[in-house]
Amino acid sequence: MLTNFLMTDAGGGRGVPGADRCAPITIDQLARHVNMSVELRGWVYGRRSGGGIVFLLLRDGAGICQCVSEAADDDLFETARHVPQESSVIVQGTVRRDPRAPGGYELRLSRLVVIHAAEEYPIARKRHGIDFLLRHRHLWLRSPRQSILMRIRHTLVAAVRDFFNRRGFILVDTPILSPGAAEGSATLFRVDYFGEEVYLAQTGQLYLEAACMALGKVYCFGPTFRAEKSKTRRHLTEFWMVEPELAFADLEQVMALAEELVKHLVDRVLDRHAADLEFLGRKPETLSSVQGPFARISYTEAVDILHSGRLAAETEQFLAARRAQLADRIRQLDEIEARIKGMQAGRRRDALVAEAIGLRAEIRRLEEEVRNLPVHLQQARRFAWGEDLGGDEETLLSRHFDRPVFITHYPRKCRAFYMKADPGDPRLVLNFDLLAPEGYGEIVGGSQREDDLSRLVERMQEEKMNLAPYQWYLDLRRYGSVTHGGFGLGIERFLSWLCGLDHVREAIAFPRMLGRINP
Ligand code: 4AD
Ligand code: MG
Repeated sequence: MLTNFLMTDAGGGRGVPGADRCAPITIDQLARHVNMSVELRGWVYGRRSGGGIVFLLLRDGAGICQCVSEAADDDLFETARHVPQESSVIVQGTVRRDPRAPGGYELRLSRLVVIHAAEEYPIARKRHGIDFLLRHRHLWLRSPRQSILMRIRHTLVAAVRDFFNRRGFILVDTPILSPGAAEGSATLFRVDYFGEEVYLAQTGQLYLEAACMALGKVYCFGPTFRAEKSKTRRHLTEFWMVEPELAFADLEQVMALAEELVKHLVDRVLDRHAADLEFLGRKPETLSSVQGPFARISYTEAVDILHSGRLAAETEQFLAARRAQLADRIRQLDEIEARIKGMQAGRRRDALVAEAIGLRAEIRRLEEEVRNLPVHLQQARRFAWGEDLGGDEETLLSRHFDRPVFITHYPRKCRAFYMKADPGDPRLVLNFDLLAPEGYGEIVGGSQREDDLSRLVERMQEEKMNLAPYQWYLDLRRYGSVTHGGFGLGIERFLSWLCGLDHVREAIAFPRMLGRINP
């Protein structure tokens, strides 16, 4: 095994850490240092050697750089040939432009310092099951795909803050420990608060309503907790939600704000991450439908669509296309696997192995879709007015439209107590869900709030709620009540849609789900 702090210089080696140091840069800055001597610090991502040359792939969080050493460099060459994957290293060398290198630049090594020689790395570049990867999430995060997802998430979060800050919204941090439910008691996480039972916040909304009566336009952005007892691709038990709340605003104004926010976020990510999206296999054009006005339908219209022959025909057609695509991908994978068998190690084989991994993932996804679509369709046919739209119905509806769709005016019975009754039809509330296209389903949920004290109390009693912990909330309807409303956007759902992920678990660094709390 290599010792820590093993240093090797080309041509003899001066052997003192820090000697002859050039300024460290990051891999994304290579283009500005062509033909210059630079230092990079990072981890060994991979290596290939042969024919008296070794290519060391270095990753530093900003990118991947191919570092080259030739046999003539004796010591350096030997170190580069043996340094284990994921060892931490400092390298120096000259930057060369080379279209064959990943990123277009490579480093001709003059020095290699092994800071820590890694033990055998558990994640190989072969296919691992999702359970294995999630158990190794602390290491899996180092993969290029996962790093890119975290970078896009970072951009998304910054864009959310910019959006509200530039429009004069005031950030108000709402509490995480709360005495009551706001989104139904079924998904509460209980916490022992010095002997009293309290709960982790399911939303900051109720507190935000108080804050908006003080400040006008406010938002909160924090972790949110729901004890979701089912495993779906859309549910985490801990997720991040941004929630704005506006005084003197009705449902229309709240929806207009949601549409503007979604467009802003998509634009920002397309602007900064087009190449990253391509890397993830997501065509940026797919997101361009977001530019036009979003579709709008009422819940009742949505139910009619679910029962329509058109939706059934369209879904059958889509299913047939998916089946054909699946057969095609399976054929492609068979071909590639046959070719890999007879090949020697090297760049071309690596490329085929990577392609096979991508194909297998796509096949899994298609198989699941082909399995699920008939179930969705059956559920849609059985759907009765008055029920809440679930995953099955949302998937079909969100495919039916080629752009995001607002569904408004849900039945009062299936929605939260705080939503304002529709003055035109008291069976309904003034609310909306915004569904992302391509089967992604709900990404934003919002409403106008009940601002009439007696109607709110009546509604809470109907839900058999204990009013005592909500007296402060009712006060907001006693002292200068106004028309107001807001919404919540879930960051992980949004990111999943943007990046075309199969599941929200990849959209957060350390996902929390039913049965998963480690690492
Ligand atoms: O529709 P929800 O439950 O709305 C609220 O919490 C309101 N109080 C928001 C408001 O009006 N201020 O949740 C809002 C969004 C959903 O559209 C979804 O994007 C996300 O939060 N979300 C989840 N994301 C991941 N896992 C879960 N279990 C989620 N539950 C909701
Ligand atoms: Mg919702």
